[in-house]
Order: sequence, then structure tokens, then C-alpha cells
Amino acid sequence: MSERVIPLVDHRAAGLKALLPARPVAPTGLLADTLGRPLRDLRISVTDRCNFRCNYCMPKEVFDKEHAYLPHSALLSFEEITRLARLFLAHGVRKIRLTGGEPLLRRNVEDLIAQLAQLRTVDGLPPDLTLTTNGSLLARKARALKDAGLQRVTVSLDGLDDAVFRRMNDVDFPVADVLAGIEAAHAAGLSRIKVNMVVKRGTNDHEILPMARHFRGTGTTLRFIEYMDVGATNGWRMDEVLPSAEVIGRLRAELPLVPLDPTAPGETAERWGHADASGRHDPALGEVGVISSVTQAFCGDCNRARLSTEGKLYLCLFATQGHDLRSLLRDGASDADIASALAPIWQGRSDRYSELRSTLPADTRQAGRRVEMSYIGG
Ligand code: GTP
Ligand code: 5AD
Ligand code: SF4
Ligand code: SF4
Repeated sequence: MSERVIPLVDHRAAGLKALLPARPVAPTGLLADTLGRPLRDLRISVTDRCNFRCNYCMPKEVFDKEHAYLPHSALLSFEEITRLARLFLAHGVRKIRLTGGEPLLRRNVEDLIAQLAQLRTVDGLPPDLTLTTNGSLLARKARALKDAGLQRVTVSLDGLDDAVFRRMNDVDFPVADVLAGIEAAHAAGLSRIKVNMVVKRGTNDHEILPMARHFRGTGTTLRFIEYMDVGATNGWRMDEVLPSAEVIGRLRAELPLVPLDPTAPGETAERWGHADASGRHDPALGEVGVISSVTQAFCGDCNRARLSTEGKLYLCLFATQGHDLRSLLRDGASDADIASALAPIWQGRSDRYSELRSTLPADTRQAGRRVEMSYIGG
């Protein structure tokens, strides 16, 4: 398959210095950014490596043997991650998601989960602790992850047709092994399991219905994601985006669906419930979701912060620069110092790229400078 691929420019080194305010700022759990958005969701990338080469994320031609991944010394240690996570929780974070790259490639990641599971939110509750994985190692690791305190998991899967899926992951990985990983996650007692499918028109859109039929009534929530212009290498084009409205239209032509209310403010997915013969949502049949960051941006209440593999804080998936927290950690800053440094960073945030995308001319969307999703995490 011939694909457009754009060479990677390495912007990982360029970081914004995280400054200490003149006077300490005690966390109140009530931080808000310039648009009044609270901080609720922390996504932590634990490795920039992946064993897949999905063309929309880590195209093979760019992420080849020559690609320089971060050296181990550059990565935040589990202790450093846990220390930062504790301070983010004090500032109001309720949900922590581990991502990558492929997070299950980070050695002993279950030890990190065990540390994070001990933390508490400002309400004294355990954080909602979850992980995004390509599922390739899940059959082997689900039990250990659950035992360590992981509550739920989200698995990426772009189709059920083996040939289509092998082509999309570009390392010839079979569908059956990912499905076995999802089964293992259920068997291990992980709950609220979700499957994310990135839809590319002309590549896997014919897999929408088979996927919906397959997961209906299984307890796994399937979500369809609009292919995004994230990163700088995937050669994104609008004509390959299948708008979520069309996804729902195609599904409703075959399967009865009813709209459901959001479960939380700032949620990424619009929810649709599978309906029974009377047209009412049947919880036993479950639901599907659509994530429409291209055609219906959800920046208005975006409460997500991203911590990169090497400890930079990104305020948007489409950011070009992150705030260097690792230097603070390694220069001996106290917890009070770091908590104080975090407050003005979030308070100064005004990012809303997806809302602005359509108003920006293509050549001013900083496409060459945006950070890769494999580095800051989805
Ligand atoms: P749940 O808590 O399980 O509902 O997770 P979530 O939907 O918040 O997170 P998940 O990582 O499953 O998000 C699914 C996909 O939505 C990601 O892989 C991205 O493609 C997209 N996405 C998530 N967060 C953002 C965001 O802040 N901005 C944009 N533009 N897309 C996002
Ligand atoms: N568009 C949409 N989602 C993407 N992901 C990675 N790259 C893209 C992109 N270009 C998301 C997918 C995948 C997760 C790890 O990251 O949801 O499942
Ligand atoms: Fe790996 Fe996920 Fe990116 Fe695919 S989308 S290359 S599985 S990190
Ligand atoms: Fe949040 Fe940026 Fe995504 Fe908008 S584009 S929802 S601000 S991460």
C-alpha cells in the first residue's frame, strides 16, 4: 500500500522551562485554565516505543531502525511518575490513564500501577486508573495488571478482518491475538472494557458494522474515532476522515440505536445505546461511542493534561511544546515547589486546537512541529 509519509522533525528536546512562582501555591484541587476548564484527567506516556506501526501513528518509513527512541535515563522512573501523579491529584485530577507508545512494553509496568493505585484524589477516593493498549501483550499480562490495581483497560482494534488489521498495524499482527487479550481482560476481572477503532475512509470503514455486531452484548464498549491530524508524520487528509455522523447513520441503518446522556463533563465520546425491540436502550446489549474531534470538536470542556515519557507536560494533543517537569524533579525541587509550578501552567492554558482547526489555513497549523502521539500518548 503506498501511503503519504512525512519525515519526523525531532522537537522532543525543545521544552518550556517550568518556573517556580515567587510564593508557594498550595493545591486546592480547584485549578481552572483561562477558559474555566478544570484539570481532571492525566494521561501518562510510559514509553515512546511500540511493537505496531499503525500508519496513522508510527509510520514504518519514519519509525524505522534508524529512529532514535529515548534512552532509558531520559524516561521518568516509576517513583518520579508517582510523585508527579500525587501532585496532579492534589490539583484535582480524578482519572489517570497510562499510554505510550505501547505501555505494556515498559518493563514491570504493573509495579507502577501498584504505586499509582495507592494514591488518592482530593475526595479521598482512588483515582480512576486505566490504560490504553494495542492488546498484543494483554493475554499474558491482564491478570498481573488487575492484581496490581488496574481497574479497567481500553484496547485499540481497527477491524475484525484479519487482512485489513494486519495491514493497518503494519507488522502483520493477527486479530485473534487481540481478541484473546480482550477475553483475558474480562476473565481477569477488569471492568468497563472499551475498544477504540480509528476509522479511515477507504481503509477500514467497511469494518464498522462487523465490529459493532461483534461487540454488541459482550460487555465491551466499542468507540469509533475520527482519524485525526495529530503528530506530523501521518500525511493526514480530510478526505480520509469519515465523519461520526456518517458512522452513526450507517450503524442505524442496520442496528437500532438510541442516544444516551454523557456520563461526565468533558467526555470525549458521544454515546449511543443498543436498543431492544421496543426501541429502548437495553443495557445488556451495551453501547457504542463516537469520538468526533475533527467534525465536532470537544475542546470546550477539555480537562486533559498529558505527561510525556520524559516528563514534559503538554496541555493539548496538538501542542508543539511541553513544560519540562523532569528538570524540577532532578534539580531537587520540593513537592511544594513542584505543586506551585504546576498551578500557573494550567491557569495559563488556552489551547483548543480542534475547535480552531477549520479556521486555520493548512500551512499555519504547525503541522511540521506538532509532537507525535506515540510520545505524549493518546
Ligand atoms: P474513557 O475515560 O475510557 O472514556 O477514555 P477517553 O475517551 O477519555 O480516552 P481514550 O484514550 O480512550 O480516548 C480515545 C481517543 O480519543 C484517543 O485515542 C484520541 O484519538 C481521542 N482523544 C482523547 N483525548 C483527546 C483530546 O483531548 N483531544 C482530541 N482531539 N482527541 C482526543
Ligand atoms: N487519529 C485518531 N486516533 C489516533 N490514535 C493514534 N493516532 C491517531 C490518529 N491519527 C489513537 C487511537 C489508538 C490510540 C493509541 O491512539 O485511538 O487507539
Ligand atoms: Fe502503537 Fe497505538 Fe500508535 Fe498503533 S496507535 S502505532 S498500536 S501506539
Ligand atoms: Fe483538548 Fe487539545 Fe484535544 Fe481540544 S484538541 S480536546 S484542547 S487536547
